[in-house]
Amino acid sequence: MTTRADIQAFFDPATWTVSYLVADTATRRAAVIDPVLDFDFKSGRTATHSADAMAAYVAAHGLAVDWILETHAHADHLSGARYLQQRLGGRIAIGEHIREVQATFKKLYNLERGFLPDGSQFDHLFHDGETFSIGGLQATALHVPGHTPADMAYLIEDAVFAGDTLFMPDVGTARADFPGGDARSLYRSIRRLLALPPATRVFVCHDYPPKGAGSREPAWETTVAAQREHNIHVHDGIGEDAFVAMRQARDATLEVPTLILPSIQVNVRAGQLPPADDNGVAYLRIPLNTL
Ligand SMILES: [Fe+2]
Repeated sequence: MTTRADIQAFFDPATWTVSYLVADTATRRAAVIDPVLDFDFKSGRTATHSADAMAAYVAAHGLAVDWILETHAHADHLSGARYLQQRLGGRIAIGEHIREVQATFKKLYNLERGFLPDGSQFDHLFHDGETFSIGGLQATALHVPGHTPADMAYLIEDAVFAGDTLFMPDVGTARADFPGGDARSLYRSIRRLLALPPATRVFVCHDYPPKGAGSREPAWETTVAAQREHNIHVHDGIGEDAFVAMRQARDATLEVPTLILPSIQVNVRAGQLPPADDNGVAYLRIPLNTL
């Protein structure tokens, strides 16, 4: 298959997140996927090194950004979408089921009245199967719930950006125990992605390389064929019930992610920081004894 997609990965070692820049080399139009806003929880300070690296690449290659795509409301890093939009333009988009996630977390954080759980913080909400273009590249938004109810994967030419639906084959799959998460839905979403042509390239949103035996450097690109053969949680032959039992048992052992509370309240706002108090300082909220 011929494709003019130039795919550049940006790995953030602080959160193990992989952001992507996907460009049509013919028209120089591009999409950013899952950008990171750096955040130091101890000092409450944000920084833009990760996003600036993407912006520098865009400038160096003379690209124009049409889309800033989020696969979901991440629980492990703050989104750099709003910051990058201010620098580069582009429409910030996510799946339409983000409204459910916003409603859940508006309640949990007791967010201000003016925060509406209607998706209006984003420029575009994709429905399942919606097609769009990045210059001459053909793209399809796929609703792949499970990790959260709103997860999306983006199929761009012969590459699928799986978000947290699939990890590298030796790491497996993401947890499904966040509010609205569901292991059974996750399994069905994964099988849907694995029904794509075997040569489809799969780009993951995180990598947590195994330690000890089998240890390796961080990686983020694999294929549908490799996932079907080798994914430790969902290779061909593992049925839905077995997957669900494994996922639920494993999720019960996992700690709450370090940045979940700061991340989600920013990410349901499309990467916008909360409105400032009357002293001009913006605050994040930490609900006590609720999670
Ligand atoms: Fe996630």
